[in-house]
Amino acid sequence: MDSDQLEQRARVAATVVREAGALALDYFRRRGDLRIDSKGLQDMVSQADRECEDLIFARLSEAFPADSFLGEEGGLRGTGSAMWVVDPIDGTANFVRGIPHWCVSIGLIEDGRALCGVLYDPVADELFAGVAGGGATLNGTPIGVTGETDIRKTRVGIGFSFRTPVAPHPGDIHALLDAGCEYLRLGSGALGLAYTAAGRLDGYFERHINLWDVAGGLIIVAEAGGRLSDFMTSDVVAEGNEILVATPGIYDQLRGLFDA
Ligand code: IPD
Repeated sequence: MDSDQLEQRARVAATVVREAGALALDYFRRRGDLRIDSKGLQDMVSQADRECEDLIFARLSEAFPADSFLGEEGGLRGTGSAMWVVDPIDGTANFVRGIPHWCVSIGLIEDGRALCGVLYDPVADELFAGVAGGGATLNGTPIGVTGETDIRKTRVGIGFSFRTPVAPHPGDIHALLDAGCEYLRLGSGALGLAYTAAGRLDGYFERHINLWDVAGGLIIVAEAGGRLSDFMTSDVVAEGNEILVATPGIYDQLRGLFDA
């Protein structure tokens, strides 16, 4: 894909993520009426997730009919090498409880590379965006990672889901605290990446996360100067992966803590 094609996609994605965010926000404000289904232990989906994903699919497939589309709720559609990867609401568990920490995430992947990503938090009206080679922004203003090197001054986001065994999770938190690092578990992996990119967190770690949760955020962190684990392995679409992103000066220390 050439740079004009990429820029056009980034522009359309930014418009679409805002439109989907407005739809989700409308549901969030009247969530008492929302139909919620269980997909597994502590894993839910609402009518808002499904409708937002349908809206994003309709807009992107109309604009870029040759691209393929992977949605958290609807799976894979199409065979194009450029693939839109969408989490219509990341932080669904927060969303359905009325906790204002969730976002809509759209990422574009081709040949195992994240090319552009947009994350929109409609409650805060914050649009995080990144384009390969074009930098990372928050509401149009450039952002960057903290640059911190002293782990005792850092604050790292951590995630957990029942897709993985419980056992390592308390150990991970223990290791962070032992090293003098504060941790937060905010409930949206996508925003964990965006907050790292914007210098609100020094990093984010989760032992297993699905591609749709982070596809929008990967390029935003990379373009903001963050260091990322090798997330885009060949089986990532089907299997997901572990994710570690951080400001470069503490990446190796964090890696050591989580590998110990
Ligand atoms: C979840 C959130 C959560 C993370 C989970 C994800 P969802 O995504 O990102 O923070 O810990 O691993 O599955 O279900 O809200 O889209």
